[in-house]
Formats: sequence, structure tokens, C-alpha cells
Amino acid sequence: MCGIVGYIGSKKASPILINGLLKLEYRGYDSAGLSTIENNSICVKKNKGRVNNLYDLEGINDLCGTVGIAHTRWATHGKPSKQNSHPHLDNSKTFSVVHNGIIENYHELREFLTKKGYHFLSETDTEVIPNLIHYYFNKNINDSNNFLKAVSLACSDLKGSFAIEVISYLFPNNMIVAKKDSPLVIGVGNNENYIASDIPAILSYSKSFYLLEDGDIALLSKNDVKFYNCSLEELKKEIKNIDWNASSAEKNGYEDYMLKEIHEQPTAIRETIGACLKDNEKVCFDDFNISFKDLSKINKIYIVACGTAMHAGLACKSTFETLCKIDTTVDIASEFRYRNPIINNNTFCIFVSQSGETADTLAALKLAKQHGAKTLAITNVIGSSISREADYNLYTHAGPEIAVASTKAYTSQIVLLTLVAICFAEILNSCSEDILNDLKKELLLIPRKVSSILKNIEPIKDFADSVYKEHDMFFLGRGFDYNVAQEASLKLKEISYIHSDSYAAGELKHGPIALIEKGVTVIGIITDPSLMLKSISNLEEVITRGAKTFIVTNQDIDNSDFNMIYKIPKTNILLSSILSIVPLQLFAYFISKAKGLDVDKPRNLAKSVTVE
Ligand code: F6R
Repeated sequence: MCGIVGYIGSKKASPILINGLLKLEYRGYDSAGLSTIENNSICVKKNKGRVNNLYDLEGINDLCGTVGIAHTRWATHGKPSKQNSHPHLDNSKTFSVVHNGIIENYHELREFLTKKGYHFLSETDTEVIPNLIHYYFNKNINDSNNFLKAVSLACSDLKGSFAIEVISYLFPNNMIVAKKDSPLVIGVGNNENYIASDIPAILSYSKSFYLLEDGDIALLSKNDVKFYNCSLEELKKEIKNIDWNASSAEKNGYEDYMLKEIHEQPTAIRETIGACLKDNEKVCFDDFNISFKDLSKINKIYIVACGTAMHAGLACKSTFETLCKIDTTVDIASEFRYRNPIINNNTFCIFVSQSGETADTLAALKLAKQHGAKTLAITNVIGSSISREADYNLYTHAGPEIAVASTKAYTSQIVLLTLVAICFAEILNSCSEDILNDLKKELLLIPRKVSSILKNIEPIKDFADSVYKEHDMFFLGRGFDYNVAQEASLKLKEISYIHSDSYAAGELKHGPIALIEKGVTVIGIITDPSLMLKSISNLEEVITRGAKTFIVTNQDIDNSDFNMIYKIPKTNILLSSILSIVPLQLFAYFISKAKGLDVDKPRNLAKSVTVE
């Protein structure tokens, strides 16, 4: 994630830009920078490190320009450095661009532009954008609309996600912004316009907003905003008046961080997939390369973590075994570190942690290293202790998770673990290309499928409202659905304080069914067609004993014995957990709300567990 801000009006732009960036620092803080138009040229000030460092840059206070763009970066392509910081210029220094998102085809675009004589100063994907704009600008030099045309042609060449702002000293009274799959809003002021990645960043300047849709391009002047689609046909857009206080602003209008974070899952997943996965290509991570020689020595994989992160590991155990044909064990970090696990230099250990600071996971990582294992950290916080300790590092790009109950980190962790499993299978040649291609194709569809679930939350709320006074609930599933049952049960207990348990559905008759009596709520998860009939018959057994049932399924189940059937989209079974958990996160959320509890800060819990 990165954050972008822009201003066009009559005031000095730089203080407004820096102020906006400070509010967006949660989106990344590897480097920050801004550009303003000053006396027929573009002035760029940028550096590695936090936004506040901009105040120390020479000449920053002398900037008088009233049009400017700014950026705070979370590095994806290229290390955090001044050179890789935004804004980026084209070779002729005519256009300046800031960008949030990932350009998947930047290698091809770079090659194309290099052949046309352009050169590149940074390692970023973004630097292709200003040069591409320059290329199209020169091609259409006689066109009266050439700035807008050049930006729209450049955008149509970009694959991946982007929210961009573009300025040029040739057009000192304009700015162009465009968006696809990355957020962007325009705040309208009095003879001035503000642009940002989210509303809170500019809420102190404006209460009237245009919310851009994917494919929109906007041409701004200080007193006008015109919208176009990618064919440059003009669009009509309505202004939305936002009446938020400071706290709801931080939650982007949602009542709680947890609800906001549940809704952020399509973006978190999309950003986590980022540029690692492109159509018809092998999975490739920028900063993680492991050779066939090293990987083929591995005969055991451990995935070690705590709580929800451990459940993400459970959701991916079979994925590693199916794709890589390597025995994989998922372990609770606090158990792993004290049980003398068999670890040697043929062992590969993956440590999963949202915070990257969990004490048990860190200790387990140190132990694995001492015994010669190769270690990979999957965390959500750049520079966290776990990420610094491991041999290899990958980040989920879920953005900050504030609510104590983990939601978007869980689904992003499953996505990243699945990408690692695919990457290993491709290196080892351990799985058929057809299977891997189907999985990769499905993975790219997941963000949209999660969005479709988030559009249908009323039935979940209705069921939650009908059972929130209960004292016991049970979650049942088989295979992948059992792993989701475990995570759903944890979510419910931690924020609703209702006792709940999860069972592999086939285990029920070996004891737990004794607990089922009239009125007990049982939630069944059924996404594996090969296990569907068996799961249904286990659920029939609880109905016979008087249980109320809520079924989350992607199958066509026509059974009026169930109190409620909630349909989710179909997907590859290895990815089913990512979809089936979403309604159950919402179920826990609505129960907690119905009970009037503090959803974001449940009792006795902390977001980062840095003690044993
Ligand atoms: C549950 C939850 C916890 C964490 C666990 C590990 O919603 O958030 O179970 O998953 O404390 O934390 P991290 O992932 O930071 O290591």
C-alpha cells in the first residue's frame, strides 16, 4: 500500500500535501515525496524515511506552487531509497507522477520504452508511467487534448492496479488523476480541489467528495473537475457530502475497525497477490528466490504461528502437500518451541504473524534457525522482529489491522501461503501445469468473489440477531471446512464471549454430540462437493436432537431442515477457506454488536502478544 495526496488551488500546496501524507502514513512509510509546479518547471522533493523528514529537506519551505502531488510509500518494487521514492519524472522532466498500486507488466513497458530511447533512474514499476505519458504526448503533439489523451493512452497500457496523479509544467493549471483497483477520492473546496487515497486524509479541507470508480480519469483545474472513461467520453458524477466526525473518519465511515477491515479484504487480497502472480506466468516474488537445489533438499515443512495466523497455516497444510508433495505440519508456536520438534537443514519453517512481534512465534523461529532450518517469515508489518530474524521475508499487504480480532490478515495470509506453495511446486515441478494454472486463475478471481459476499450481509445479520442470546455454539466442517470452523469459532468467542467449539464433523458422534440439545446453534460449512453428503448427514444428526442450523455453502443444497442456508461463490477447493470465513467473520461481528459489546477491543485481549 502507498498513500497519495494532491492539491490544485490558490494556496501554497506543500503544507497541505505534507499534512495529508501524515494522515496516510498508515499506508506505508518507507519514503515520502512531493512535486509542485514552480515557475515553469517541476520541483521534486523526496527522501527515504517518514513523512516528517520532508520538513528537513533543503528548500522545502521555499516552494510556492499552488499545484502539487505527494506520496508516502510502502516499497513493493525496489528497496526503500531516495531514488525509488515518488514522485517520478519522465526523462524530459515534463511530467511528474505519483502512484499507488502495482504495475504488473512494467518489465514489458520498460523494455518497450528503452527501445524507444528512454532510460530509467529507479527500480520502481512506477517510473514507466511518466515516460509512457511523455511518449504518447509526443505522438499526439498536434492534438489540442494531448495531455488528457496521453494519460488515458498510458493508462490503457497498464496492467495491474493504480491510482495516479499527474502534473506537468506545460499545463500549470491542471492535474490529471486516474484509478483502477486502488482507492482515490477528490474533495471539492472553494475554488480548489484536493485529492487523496482516502477521505480522512483531506477531511479537514472538504466535506464534499467525488469517489472515483475503476477506469475513471479526471481532469482537474482549481474550479472544475471533469470525468472521463478510458475512451475519453465525458461522465457525470455526483458529489457525496460526508458528515463524519474524527473517529468515524478514521474508520472510513464504518462503525468499527473490524467491520471496516472485513470490507477491506478484497483490496488486501488484491494487494497481497500484487505483482507475484500474472496471467500465464510463474509465481515470482521480488525479494524471495530459492533455487531448485536448495528446495529439492527439503523433506519437511513446518508452518508455525499462533491463533488466527496458525489457522491460516492449517488452511494451507493440504495445499503444500498436494502441490509440493512435501510432508507439512502446522504447529502452535508455544507448543513447537518446547516439544523438541525434529528440525535439521532439510527442514523449511514458515512463521506466520500479522504483527511480526508475537513472542512465541519469534522464539520458535530462533529455535528453528539454531537447528539449521531455512526460515521464511510471513508478516504484515515491515521491519517487524520476526521479519528481521528470518532468512527470507514476505509481506501480506493487508494494511494496518487495528481491530484485535484478525480478519483481513487471515485471508491475506492464506493467499500468500498459497502463492508460496505454487511457487515451490513450480520450482520443484511437483504438480501438473493444468492444476497450477487453474488455481492461479481462481486466485485472481478471489477479490471479486469476496466483494460479492460483502454485498449480501443482511441474511447473516438476521440470523445473528435471532441467536445472539445463546450460550453455546458449535461449528462443524470436514477437510478445509473444518479449518474454517476452527477460525470461525475463535472469532465468535473472542468478540461475543459466547462459548463455542469447532469439530471435524465426523468426530461429532465420538463424544461432542452429547452436548447437542434443543435450541443449540450449530453452524455447518460445506464447500467440498466430495464431502457434502457426509457433512449433511452429520448436520441431520444435530437437527434430530433439536439444534438450530446455519449453513455456509457453495453447493446447491435443497434441504428445508436447515434454518438458514447462506450461499457463497464456488472456487477451487484449495481457496475455499478465503470465501467461507467471510460470512462467519460477519456472523461473529453482528452477534457482538447485538450484545452491545466493544467489537474492536474485546476484554482480556491485546493486538500484539509480545509476552509468553
Ligand atoms: C485472533 C487474533 C489472534 C492472533 C494471534 C497471533 O483474532 O488476532 O489469535 O492471530 O495472537 O498474532 P500475530 O498474527 O500478530 O502473530
